[in-house]
Amino acid sequence: LDGLNTKTIGKELYLFKEVMSTNTVAKFLSENDVNNGTVIISEKQSGAKGRLGKSWESPLGGIWLSLVVKPNVDHSKIPMITLATGVAVVKTLERIGIENAEIKWPNDVMINDKKVCGILTEAITKFNSIESVIIGVGIDANFDVNVLSKELQEGTTTLDIELGHRVNENEIIRFFLEEFERIGILFEEGGFERILKEWRKYSYSIGKIVEVREPFSKSYDGYVLGISREGALVVEKIDGTLEKVISGECIIKK
Ligand code: BTN
Repeated sequence: LDGLNTKTIGKELYLFKEVMSTNTVAKFLSENDVNNGTVIISEKQSGAKGRLGKSWESPLGGIWLSLVVKPNVDHSKIPMITLATGVAVVKTLERIGIENAEIKWPNDVMINDKKVCGILTEAITKFNSIESVIIGVGIDANFDVNVLSKELQEGTTTLDIELGHRVNENEIIRFFLEEFERIGILFEEGGFERILKEWRKYSYSIGKIVEVREPFSKSYDGYVLGISREGALVVEKIDGTLEKVISGECIIKK
């Protein structure tokens, strides 16, 4: 990655033509001692993973990468890392001229109401403490405005569609790694409050009516009031009570 201006993130890079999932490769590397800031990139993935056990389409033309970081944190901080990564993606998109990207809680980056990026964070634990955190990022970059747009899933978009021209994937990866490192420094200096402040600026979810679907419980509708200090979504239910959503799905209704 020519011109990469970081101290640790992406100093060690693994590049592949095709793997099942860069997160799985990252997990494998983590089990065999890996440096903080290692990045795994693949042109295609044959068995990529999305959140909540879903699969993730990863054809040529997208940006599919995983970062391995070794922060000194406990489990409760993992949602924050996902939120911080979303902020880094939005800032990356600003650098290529997309000014209106927003973050749909917890991890989707949206442009004009359509999803362009997903983030899958996984923690590797050893003796009950966090050994490393794997952050998988998928960005739908170039899918050829005219040729492939028909095959896109409903509700999703790509950077080339939004900009009307092809984008330079290497440049975007470089920008992203730089923004990720920068947000990590903010995190260290200003704590979570600093990240939350950034996140709120780009929030797509706050002020929307949503349907919350959490594992093992009944779904409900509510109004998104904001985000808590732990990174949970704060939802006001129809009966006026407040719920904090830590994991799960939030479908925007209006
Ligand atoms: C989601 O929105 O459901 C999260 C999608 C995460 C996809 C990325 S692509 C790179 C990395 N490798 C994977 O198998 N998944 C993540």
